[in-house]
Amino acid sequence: QAALPQGYHLRALAHGDYERGFLKTLAVLTEVGNHSKADWMERFDYLKKHNHEYFTIVIVDPQDRVVAAGTIFVERKFVHLNGLVGHIEDIAVDGNQQGKKFGLRIIQALKFIGAKTGCYKVILDCSQKNIPFYEKCGFTHKEYEMAWYV
Ligand code: ACO
Repeated sequence: QAALPQGYHLRALAHGDYERGFLKTLAVLTEVGNHSKADWMERFDYLKKHNHEYFTIVIVDPQDRVVAAGTIFVERKFVHLNGLVGHIEDIAVDGNQQGKKFGLRIIQALKFIGAKTGCYKVILDCSQKNIPFYEKCGFTHKEYEMAWYV
């Protein structure tokens, strides 16, 4: 397991992370939207109520600012005798903090959660340019992503 620098911590998403830069961290991924506190709480409360299937984790710096984030969603299937599949989503490392193994550390923790919750596999979609990163995290290339936008 990659170690974190001194004073940095990995923990579950907390409701106060609205003020600690969680949404700003996600902006490296795509357009995030301009959440009011109520918008944030609506989604946060939902995830909390479903905390047996949604696990969002963050890495915070010594000042408790969010520098990295990631989620695993545990899908309940019929196949593989009611098998569970972990879907890794929204891996984001703050632009100034990339290349310091925070992404790797987030993925290691999400894989651990997937294994502990009983998933028989953990999968994700990514761009071609991120393939080397996910290979370093122990993933192998399989299948293709298809999308339909409403
Ligand atoms: N190409 C080649 N190697 C890479 C790349 C890359 N694009 N990115 C990281 N690596 C390598 C690193 O060099 C390192 O290798 P090493 O162990 O031999 O030194 C290893 O992968 C681990 O790298 P980290 O330092 O952990 O990477 P980082 O903290 O920067 O996180 C991430 C990588 C998540 C892709 C980050 O750069 C980022 O947030 N990018 C913008 C948002 C993004 O693309 N997120 C992923 C979307 S896909 C999804 O969410 C499922």
